[in-house]
Amino acid sequence: MIRPPTDLPASRVNIRRMPKVSIRDLDLQGKRVFIRADLNVPLTESGEITDDTRIRAVFPTLEMARQKGARVIVASHLGRPRGKPNPRMSLRSVGKRLSQILGCEVAFATDCVGDVAAQAAAALKGGEVLLLENLRFHPEEEKNDRAFAAQLAALGDVYVNDAFGSAHRAHASTEAIARLIPVAAGGLLMEKELEYLGKATRNPAKPYVAIVGGAKVSDKIDLLQNLIRLTDAVLVGGAMAYTFLKSRGGKVGVSRVEEDKREQAREVLAHAEKLGVEIKLPSDHVISDRIDATGKAQLASTIPDGMMGVDIGPETRRDFADAIGKARTIVWNGPMGVFEVDQFAEGTLAVARAVAASSAVSIVGGGDSVAAIAKAGVGSKISHISTGGGASLEFLSGLKLPGVEALPEK
Ligand code: 3PG
Repeated sequence: MIRPPTDLPASRVNIRRMPKVSIRDLDLQGKRVFIRADLNVPLTESGEITDDTRIRAVFPTLEMARQKGARVIVASHLGRPRGKPNPRMSLRSVGKRLSQILGCEVAFATDCVGDVAAQAAAALKGGEVLLLENLRFHPEEEKNDRAFAAQLAALGDVYVNDAFGSAHRAHASTEAIARLIPVAAGGLLMEKELEYLGKATRNPAKPYVAIVGGAKVSDKIDLLQNLIRLTDAVLVGGAMAYTFLKSRGGKVGVSRVEEDKREQAREVLAHAEKLGVEIKLPSDHVISDRIDATGKAQLASTIPDGMMGVDIGPETRRDFADAIGKARTIVWNGPMGVFEVDQFAEGTLAVARAVAASSAVSIVGGGDSVAAIAKAGVGSKISHISTGGGASLEFLSGLKLPGVEALPEK
């Protein structure tokens, strides 16, 4: 089961219902309810699910729909199959796991549109569940194609969006469909995510500290521009820190640097300085000559030629932990290093422990940071663990999420 909304006393968290129509508000008896979930879970090469958090997270919504007598049609994407069927990205095994979690049979349609889907949806009785095959097997999904969305909409009488993790995507099943189907609403997971993340952006207790890591600056640099307007300090770790360090003229050896983002990184640093917002970059590093488990870890304050940074060093860990300890609101997205490799994991785990030890409202999003929290065994100490990586970061950066915007106001 997923954790209850909070481990904090109610006075610490300002929970407000979202101003969007909610599944709670709807009479679903006998209705065909099309539920967009984010069942984009990590799979092994042989197709085994390595983390079913996202499947468990949609349970309350599916259970509520079944209890209300709905005929439940679940749709999701899995991976990035580039608009073509790909058996390695089939949702079939997710359907089996969903069936175990729900404790009922889950029918599976081998396509999300066309006769196969229409017949399977029509055959459902009240309380029964159908899972459709990967939406992204059709290129129209990611193009937010109206005709494709109309085909999806025709499967249901009611649309419920519970895919918070995909709400930053304007796709046919997250955006266009909500405007085409007669009745649309948010699900319980969507509602919970918006409540917690909304609290952080609406009225954050100060100091507000963001910790941003991970590999790709290009994914996050625009969001950083926004985040510095909202926060008091931003701690930057992971591979993206090396682009920032290099943009300041630092030596980074052969660390991963996005050369085309150096100028933008410089702008972010200059902008932060103007705003009086501190951007903390690593002052020491764990370095290695390779990134995999055969690499030996060494400590260094500057990265020599031929070596690369793979984790933040002990001085940086203390410095980051100090800033985290003073914070009253913390958001964390992205690891501090190559934490999948044990000898490069300590910086990320130290951040996980520091966030857990803090009495601040803490929000953690993104698959790797959430996995680090689990690896450190501190999940119960985090105020809110988001099922959305990109979605939570976009929301926390003050951006509107198309999947949320498309839902009707209460
Ligand atoms: C995610 O894992 O962040 C969501 O499922 C969205 O996936 P995407 O980045 O492939 O759109």
